Amino acid sequence: EAAQKDGYDTYMLKEINEQPHVINETLRGRVFEDKVVLNEIKDVDFSKFNKVYFVACGTAYHACLCGAQILERATKLPVITQVASEFRYNDPIIDEKTLCIYVSQSGETADTLAALRLAKSKGCTTIAIANVLGSTISRDADYTLYTCAGPEIAVASTKAYTTQLVLLTLLALYIAQDLHLDVDQDILNQLNDLPAYVENLIKDEELFANYAKMLKDKHDCYFIGRSLDYASVLEGALKLKEVSYVHADAYIAGELKHGPIALIEDGTVVIAVATQPHVAAKTISNIQETVARGADVILFTTENEEVNNVKNTYILPSINPLLQSVLVAIPLQLIAYHTANIKGCDVDKPRNLAKSVTVE
Ligand code: G6P
Repeated sequence: EAAQKDGYDTYMLKEINEQPHVINETLRGRVFEDKVVLNEIKDVDFSKFNKVYFVACGTAYHACLCGAQILERATKLPVITQVASEFRYNDPIIDEKTLCIYVSQSGETADTLAALRLAKSKGCTTIAIANVLGSTISRDADYTLYTCAGPEIAVASTKAYTTQLVLLTLLALYIAQDLHLDVDQDILNQLNDLPAYVENLIKDEELFANYAKMLKDKHDCYFIGRSLDYASVLEGALKLKEVSYVHADAYIAGELKHGPIALIEDGTVVIAVATQPHVAAKTISNIQETVARGADVILFTTENEEVNNVKNTYILPSINPLLQSVLVAIPLQLIAYHTANIKGCDVDKPRNLAKSVTVE
């Protein structure tokens, strides 16, 4: 087993470190100078769809929340994102003009498979984004696109998530191309830079391990963000609670005043993400509201100016905002990992959780 961990103490840490490589693998042969090539779906005529559904569970659902926003902006198609266990019982309004996209690392999650079968029975076109070759989802869906993350052993998903984000971005750009819409050249160019940026972020592991020390004795931690950053903080909070058992909740920063602010007291740790330029200043003002109530804030941002009273600010590389979710995932994974590690938790096999949930 030690050999399989490549010298790392845990699969989770190994898989976090594999991300530069597997992101590269997921991009390989799919991005060219001025276009995205996804041969697996070259026969699909995307002009026939008037609506898109994204459906998944757990971490894959968070990847969907990001992918949905990117797709909506790139294609102007209305997009709905739903957790699979809801979709399958909600009598969704879907028909042959609906494109349904299912994301699943294992390709075996019972709720996701049932949701896919429902869409097929209503005549929708279905695309699966899966990681495991030949998994059930790839046999059931009309089309499958694979992330190239390699086997993910740790229960808490890391490299599958970031490769899902990358592939969903490619899919959004591909559909925009197919619809003859302008594709943002800037994103296409920067996709290939992601592995190097991720590698550099991993090099700051010690810094993120220090942030984890702030959490080791805490019962609660709150994450805030807006827009795409909300999906990132949902995933950050999930990672933290899964492996370290610190109760973590994520909120849309603008919703703080409608309830969660009541929970902030002296010494509460708030992890904030502000990478989306159109709302970063708004999030930063929400951060100040938590600081005023005694919160210890850890901020991940691309905004260069110093944020008053926030000692722990990490400046992320400034790349296209639609790609930022891939970058901020790395420190959030490492904070979760190190919090669990300091507390002596079994990070690869958290209590009560399974890698693949094949029963309802
Ligand atoms: C379980 C795993 C999660 C995963 C979720 C969905 O809860 O512990 O890490 O995100 O299932 O799994 P899937 O294989 O469908 O992506």
